[in-house]
Amino acid sequence: AAAEKGGFESFMDKEIHDQPHAVADTLLGRTDTAGRIVLDDLRIDESVLRSVDKIIVIACGTAAYAGHVAKYAIEHWCRIPVEVELAHEFRYRDPIVDERTLVVAISQSGETMDTLMAVRHAREQGAKVLAIVNTNGSTIPRESDAVLYTHAGPEIAVASTKAFLAQITAAYVLGLYLAQLRGNKYPDEVTQIMDELRDMARKVQTVIERGEYVRATARSMKDADKVLFLGRHVGYPVAMEGALKLKELAYIHAEGFAAGELKHGPIALIDEGQPVFVVVPSPRGRDQLHSKMVSNIQEIRARGARTLVIAEDGDDAVRAYADEIFWIPQAPSLLQPLLAVVPLQIFAMALASAKGLDVDQPRNLAKSVTVE
Ligand code: G6P
Repeated sequence: AAAEKGGFESFMDKEIHDQPHAVADTLLGRTDTAGRIVLDDLRIDESVLRSVDKIIVIACGTAAYAGHVAKYAIEHWCRIPVEVELAHEFRYRDPIVDERTLVVAISQSGETMDTLMAVRHAREQGAKVLAIVNTNGSTIPRESDAVLYTHAGPEIAVASTKAFLAQITAAYVLGLYLAQLRGNKYPDEVTQIMDELRDMARKVQTVIERGEYVRATARSMKDADKVLFLGRHVGYPVAMEGALKLKELAYIHAEGFAAGELKHGPIALIDEGQPVFVVVPSPRGRDQLHSKMVSNIQEIRARGARTLVIAEDGDDAVRAYADEIFWIPQAPSLLQPLLAVVPLQIFAMALASAKGLDVDQPRNLAKSVTVE
């Protein structure tokens, strides 16, 4: 087993280090020589994809957070409304689904029973189902109309890491493909975003190389009993995923919030020394997100929070309000989740190790949940 871990302490550590490859390999062979996205294996008619008027992403756990991230990008690029729903919730209500709905099922294993039942439910109502799956030949792609494989390689650790980055990457390729097909984006825009996406593999590597500072911080926090995570826009699902990692691996009560929601409740949780991770949007974004987030950091710090800030290289505005800063390379706003989540994964893993826990096999959890 030691050899399978490739010299790493755990499968999870290895899989975190595999992430640059997971992103790069998922992008491999998706464009032709002219830079256009080609999804040859998509067995859904182009005419059907052109007439899609709603996308519903169904998934569970980490895969659902990948869906939440993708919603921001797909709506922005394609102008198609995207809903994201937990598969088990979708399945047992009366969702509005018809022939013009594209259901995107995201699953690492391709075997999650909740997701599979939701796929069946959607198809029975006439929707086309496209699966974004990591495991070749698994059940969900077999029961879907089309499949876009992520190429993260086998993921062994129960808590998902590299599959998450690959799922976001694949969903972005799908979004760009739809934008190209439906004429929402000029070909050179698609090419440019694909180039930026390819460049993310190198940047993910940079974040991993900066991991020791995150580990040291995690070791110093092994007695934490509650940790909060804040994000906005695509940073919001990243915050929820960071909280999930900490629950799964370190058995610490953790919650991710949309930073704008702070004043509507969660800020009451802040007292002296409360650790709060904050995923800061790019200061180069054209919106107000960055300055809003800086205000949020000031607000919680004034109430005693210990702020653990994930910020872009060169973002000097956050320095004064951060107790710790985990720097990530600059990237286009929509692509930032691929970087921002990495310190959160490393943090949860290192904290769990410091507590003496098995990071690959957390208690009570299974890698693939094949019962409803
Ligand atoms: C289990 C795993 C999670 C995973 C979820 C969805 O709960 O412990 O890590 O995110 O299932 O799995 P899937 O294989 O469908 O992505």
